[in-house]
Amino acid sequence: MKSSSVWKKFRIKDVELKNRIVRSATNEHLGTRNGIITDSFIDVYKNLANSGVSLIITSNMAIDKSQRSDLAQICINEPENIEKLKLLTKEVHKASSKIICQISYGGHHASKIVAKSAMTPSTTEETTEMTLDDINNCINNYIKTIKLIKKVGFDGVELHLAHGYLLSEFLDPFYNKRTDKYGGTTENRYRIVHQILSKLNNFVLDSHFLIIAKIDSTSKSGDSLFLEEQINICKLLEKDGIDAIEVSGCDFKKYKKDIPYFLNNALKIKEEVSVPIILVGGFRNITQINNAISKGIDLIAMSRPFIADKNFMEKLKKNQASRCTSCNSCFYIYKTRFKHCIFDNEIDLQLYENFHK
Ligand SMILES: Cc1cc2nc3c(=O)[nH]c(=O)nc-3n(C[C@H](O)[C@H](O)[C@H](O)COP(=O)(O)O)c2cc1C
Repeated sequence: MKSSSVWKKFRIKDVELKNRIVRSATNEHLGTRNGIITDSFIDVYKNLANSGVSLIITSNMAIDKSQRSDLAQICINEPENIEKLKLLTKEVHKASSKIICQISYGGHHASKIVAKSAMTPSTTEETTEMTLDDINNCINNYIKTIKLIKKVGFDGVELHLAHGYLLSEFLDPFYNKRTDKYGGTTENRYRIVHQILSKLNNFVLDSHFLIIAKIDSTSKSGDSLFLEEQINICKLLEKDGIDAIEVSGCDFKKYKKDIPYFLNNALKIKEEVSVPIILVGGFRNITQINNAISKGIDLIAMSRPFIADKNFMEKLKKNQASRCTSCNSCFYIYKTRFKHCIFDNEIDLQLYENFHK
């Protein structure tokens, strides 16, 4: 494949992407305490679209406010958000980019906000096991939310099946200790996802609307068989009509080298399914991107470079690397103050340098 292939168009169903670069879901912490979209949030997406990113995946939005994972998380179903979501998708489309909305239930992440009321597949010290009624409500809320996402103009939805959010906890035996039909075998652990996908109707099953999933290719348990299990999950997702799979890993924050972190895992998945594969984790320059594409990865997703570099797309085009060192300070700075890279602020930079002395 030629080195310019990253700039070639790519099509998933009838959704045409102008290049292979995706902004992976990134929680900007730019919602109000009530979960409402702010103008600053919309500006972030306008800037990403104007910079030439072909597909933007939004921050992880909460389906159920009572199960959100942080206080500045956007709660998509708040009525006040409807007009703001319409504006968001319109602004991104003006720049000929596409936008997909990532949604989730917080799972154990919600315990930081709602303590023991956080719902998880199995009880833990911090969380409460979901009843069958809770599971049914959750499935119905997914369906209702996906319809809303289509109505307000998104090009698709991403189910967050990674990083310890609720659905990933169902999939991973490390978290899912259930003995009913939602636990045990691969099919049982996957059942909740299957029930969501099989309840989608023709309104959302449209060739211009994508249903994609972000999955982990590594488990917190370190279980070496986990990838094999996830490959089985990917086959089930494909059977249920998923349009693309984004491959990540639960432990992405700890990596600094072996870039891109999950390439080998993604290639193993790619061999077993025929849906497009999006790979995320560690890409910092065009050589790494072209190398992954030449090996068969369809789309390249990134998060931290878009925080670290004001116009990362321009840098890529000029063959310049991102200045992101994967220091992860953006996670903590985002939560406490306005979201930016430590390199943009003298005080943060000093704190960082002292910390790393
Ligand atoms: C500040 C921050 C917030 C993130 N929020 C989300 C999120 O809402 N949903 C998600 O799936 N991943 C989230 N991620 C993970 C990224 O999508 C991505 O998987 C990870 O950062 C690895 O890619 P990178 O090396 O290009 O940063 C976040 C990452 C960062 C740095």
